[in-house]
Amino acid sequence: MRAVVYERYGTPGELELRDVPVPVPGPGEVLVEVVAASVNLSDWEGLRGDPAYARMGGLFRPGRGRRILGTDVAGRVAAVGPGATRFAVGDAVFGDIMPRYGAFAEFVAAPEAVLAPKPAGLSFAEASALPQAAAIASYAVGLAEPGERMLLNGAGGGSGSLAIQLAAAKGVHLTAVDNADKLDFMRELGADEVIDYRRDDFTRHGPFDVVVDMVARRSIFAYRRALARGGRCVVVGGTTRAVLRMLTVGPLLGAVSGARLGVLIVHQGPAAFLPVAEQVARGEVTVVVDSTYPLDAVPEAIARHGEGRALGKIVIVP
Ligand SMILES: NC(=O)c1ccc[n+]([C@@H]2O[C@H](COP(=O)([O-])OP(=O)(O)OC[C@H]3O[C@@H](n4cnc5c(N)ncnc54)[C@H](OP(=O)(O)O)[C@@H]3O)[C@@H](O)[C@H]2O)c1
Repeated sequence: MRAVVYERYGTPGELELRDVPVPVPGPGEVLVEVVAASVNLSDWEGLRGDPAYARMGGLFRPGRGRRILGTDVAGRVAAVGPGATRFAVGDAVFGDIMPRYGAFAEFVAAPEAVLAPKPAGLSFAEASALPQAAAIASYAVGLAEPGERMLLNGAGGGSGSLAIQLAAAKGVHLTAVDNADKLDFMRELGADEVIDYRRDDFTRHGPFDVVVDMVARRSIFAYRRALARGGRCVVVGGTTRAVLRMLTVGPLLGAVSGARLGVLIVHQGPAAFLPVAEQVARGEVTVVVDSTYPLDAVPEAIARHGEGRALGKIVIVP
């Protein structure tokens, strides 16, 4: 089969289209013929090996399972491994196969437990754009109650563009932060207020009941400054330093200052992303697909994401 392989951390130039053996599904796994796979920030981070936690599994070179990027996948079951009973050959499925990678290929083996039947109302491209982003978005918006003031940093990306819509539907007052080119996009999705992170410091706004940072880079004192009394702040991803500070010092500062600060751990899986997928299938939420690329254009697709040029999700169509 054809797959996009890389052997060293670096730029999209490290990615190469190659012929590799079709994976064999192990116990409890199915082989999926990939119809669509979406690009996430974790693919960009996994390619560059930065932040440091993106090197888990291979310190100097990507570990064996990670030589092919891609975790969000939609496709058809092509074979069933020993003991796998949930799906039959030909079933349309989708899911997030993190921490395993391998979806930027014609076939990928995946544990059946992480997959769900694809709703008929969703295209394969839309379905592939959902699992990771929908899970993160629902966890993030789940932290806020109707009427509360929430700030979302990095709101113009894949998870943010869903979170904005979920927050609007829930009656949460949302301030969305991203670069200037995404401000109109975020307003159209339902953000009440928008901030350009290159011109303005969101921690000087507020106070907010909930702050969620998709791409944390700030000190915990800056986050604390943005919070109302009793407020909650979580980081979803970001620099190793910012995430570690939030894990270690965040709970202490929170305890002494009447706030909660920590890291949002998202338990991926169908229970986390299916409710949003069903909302998309019913037309209540829109999944924005920025562009689609064939397998041999994965380097361009990942560069477009990494350089911040995408409005919505980028989808690979083998
Ligand atoms: N906690 C967990 O369990 C878990 C699981 C999976 C993934 N993650 C993490 O979750 C996050 C989700 O990201 P995603 O998929 O939505 O990523 P994405 O689509 O790349 O969106 C990130 C957005 O942040 C913007 N951005 C970049 N630098 C920024 C800054 N300094 N200030 C404000 N905005 C900035 C980007 O815009 P530009 O670059 O265009 O400016 C982009 O629009 C990632 O950090 C990922 O590593 C966490």
